[in-house]
Amino acid sequence: MESTRKRLITLLAKKKDEYISGQKLSDELNISRAAIWKQMKSLENEGYQIEAVSRKGYRIVRFPERMSVNTIQWNLKTDWLGQNMHFEEQVDSTQTVAHQLAREGAEHGTVIVADEQLKGRGRLHRPWHSQKGSGIWMSIILRPDIEPHRAPQLTLASAVAITKMLKFLTGVQPKIKWPNDIFVGDRKLAGILTEMQAEQDLIEYVIIGIGLNVNLDQKAVPDDLQDVATSIQLETGKAWKREELIQELLYQMESIYELFLQQGFSSIKQAWEQDAYRLGETITVKARRKEWEATLIGIHEDGALIVEDENQSKSVLYSAEIDW
Ligand code: BTN
Repeated sequence: MESTRKRLITLLAKKKDEYISGQKLSDELNISRAAIWKQMKSLENEGYQIEAVSRKGYRIVRFPERMSVNTIQWNLKTDWLGQNMHFEEQVDSTQTVAHQLAREGAEHGTVIVADEQLKGRGRLHRPWHSQKGSGIWMSIILRPDIEPHRAPQLTLASAVAITKMLKFLTGVQPKIKWPNDIFVGDRKLAGILTEMQAEQDLIEYVIIGIGLNVNLDQKAVPDDLQDVATSIQLETGKAWKREELIQELLYQMESIYELFLQQGFSSIKQAWEQDAYRLGETITVKARRKEWEATLIGIHEDGALIVEDENQSKSVLYSAEIDW
C-alpha cells in the first residue's frame, strides 16, 4: 500500500504549474485538511518548496536536489513511457533489475533509473563506468509486437531519440556511430545496450539500456577513458539537471517508438542518417572473414549498414567490426 505521503507527492507532481486545493487533496487521500497541512510542513523540511495560495491550493515549486521517481516524473510529458518507474540509489546494473522486473511481468514502458551502478555493462561484455550522480544510467522495458530480428532497429531508434534530446536541450552536436554509440567529435558520450528475451518468432520483452555521461568533469573520467570519453558537462562547460534530460529523452523515445511501430524503421532512417558519424568517409570494415576499406553510405531500410568499396560495389552489413 502506497504511503499517504507518496500519494500526496504524486498528486502534486502530476501537474507542474497547477494548484490543487486542500479540499481535493483531503478527498483524494482521505485525510483531514489539518493532516494535509502537516504533511506539507514535513515535505518542506525535506527540501520541497511548496507554494500555498488561498482559494487556489498547493503546488510544488521546487523538488529536493536528490533524484527520485518523483523528481523525474514531475514534468514528464509521456503517455506511457516511464509512467511506471523505479529509482535505485545503487545497483549492480539497471539491466539486471530490468530483466528481473520483466520476468515478473512489469508492464511495457517500465523504466529503471539508478544513481550509481557497481557493475554497469556495455556491449561485448565491456564494463560501463557509472559513477554516482554523474550520468543517466537507465533501462527501459518494452514489449513490442514485432519479429525478433527487428529488435536491433530499436537500438538505432533509441540513438535518434538521444540525439534529438541532446540537440533540443543542450546544444551539443551529437553523431550516431553505428550501431549503438553516440559521439561528440571523436569521443563517446553515450552507449545503448539492447537485450532481448524471445521465443522463435515472438518477443517476450526487450530491454533498452542507456548510459549517458552527464556531469563528469575531466578529473572524474577514468584514466583509461581520458582520450575516448566525454560528457555533456565537458562539452558545454556546465552541470546539468539529469531529471530534465531524462524527461525529454523519454518523451522523444515514446514518439519515435510509436512512429517505428506504425510506419516501420524506414520512417526513422532519414533522421538517423542526418546525424551519422563519418557518413561519406572511408572506414575499415571487418566482416565475413575479410577486411577492406569502404565508404560509409548510410543504412538500409531495415537498419543494416551500407558501405561501398573502391569498385563501387555495395555491401549490406548486419554485423561487422568497423575501424573508424
Ligand atoms: C555500450 O556502449 O556498450 C552500451 C552501454 C550501456 C550502458 C547502460 S547504463 C544503463 C544500463 N545498465 C547497464 O549495465 N548498462 C546499460
